[in-house]
Amino acid sequence: MVSAMSMPQVPPTKIDFSPEDRAWIAARIIEVLESGRLTLGPFGEQFEAELARSMGVKHAVTVNSGTASLEIMLRAMDVAGKDVLVPANTFFATAAAVIAAGGNPVLMDTDVTTLSTSVKEIERRLTPKTVGIMIVHIAGFITAEMPDIAALAKAKGLWLMEDAAHAQGSTLDGKSAGTFGLAGSFSFYPTKVMTSAEGGVIVTDDDRMATEAKLYRDQGKASFLQNTHIRMGYNWRMSEPHAVIGLRHHQNLPDMIKNRQRIAARYDAALAGGAYGLRPLPAPKGCVSNYYKYVVMLADGTDRKKAKTWLRDERGVNCSGEVYEVPLHKNEVLKHLDPGDLTGSETACGRQLCLPIFASMTDAQADQVIAGVKAAHQAGIL
Ligand SMILES: Cc1ncc(COP(=O)(O)O)c(C=O)c1O
Repeated sequence: MVSAMSMPQVPPTKIDFSPEDRAWIAARIIEVLESGRLTLGPFGEQFEAELARSMGVKHAVTVNSGTASLEIMLRAMDVAGKDVLVPANTFFATAAAVIAAGGNPVLMDTDVTTLSTSVKEIERRLTPKTVGIMIVHIAGFITAEMPDIAALAKAKGLWLMEDAAHAQGSTLDGKSAGTFGLAGSFSFYPTKVMTSAEGGVIVTDDDRMATEAKLYRDQGKASFLQNTHIRMGYNWRMSEPHAVIGLRHHQNLPDMIKNRQRIAARYDAALAGGAYGLRPLPAPKGCVSNYYKYVVMLADGTDRKKAKTWLRDERGVNCSGEVYEVPLHKNEVLKHLDPGDLTGSETACGRQLCLPIFASMTDAQADQVIAGVKAAHQAGIL
């Protein structure tokens, strides 16, 4: 028996840059330093071109975070004083960006099977002041209802935008996350499936949105060299070293996703039929997920905190943070947004557990996780 102290640890996630990646990045950062073009330069332009090409869109505008990309999209749509539908089960920034842009987030409930929002729920939450819908692809899953959501938005004269921070490389019927509506926002924060250290991008086929995004990200200046301001912009620029890091990870993205999918398939096979008290969430029909997270639902009454501690201490299995631990309206600063009846979101948040998953994870590490949950089940923890 391996003692708890000497047991190999499976980390919740891992950010991978191989020695070749590091050398590639270092060489180009030296080039950037030599050139003196440290921000909004050729590497940023190349990163944008490659992102746009991989997602099949006309424009990609890089910025310095996924929070910035959200706020820019919302400012470009002038949401001040208006209502924007936002899921209750999402990251703080989805709603905070609406508030920062002067709008009012209206929370929608979560479908526990897809972790997303249904057409029915959108219809229920519409208000006379609603101007748009923000859909979030939690864990990398794109709901099969996406085309119906786009059709509903069109029929109601609303814009549809996506916070696709979790869904880089996910598709639904071959269509990339972030491309179902007017614009999509991505984050390159280190824990995401690909990273630029910090960063984000707006993808769109809309020429006006792309032009606005470029204005907003650079202090709302009329042009790069002209210090007159025509929008309430901010410093949301992406630096060249960040673009270099992002470029490299973006080139690795297909392989990194393939590895995540291999681990997810191994979990799926082991946990099929609700084995060990866990219910895996199958990817929605037509969705090829990037498996940013591997989410399982816990049986009623399971103590998640206790289970996570047990798995870590007894089996070296470190589960990652949930998506999300609590829905938005359970956060002190956002409790005023509670419209009532968000029980799906409360269940989705309260009952989920995210098993370790990352691009360089080995089958042996996945098997350690599977053996760990089996043992936790036998011990009555799961
Ligand atoms: C759903 C979602 N939206 C927005 C963000 C914000 O991205 P960033 O951390 O790059 O500002 C994140 C990242 O954590 C996220 O997960």
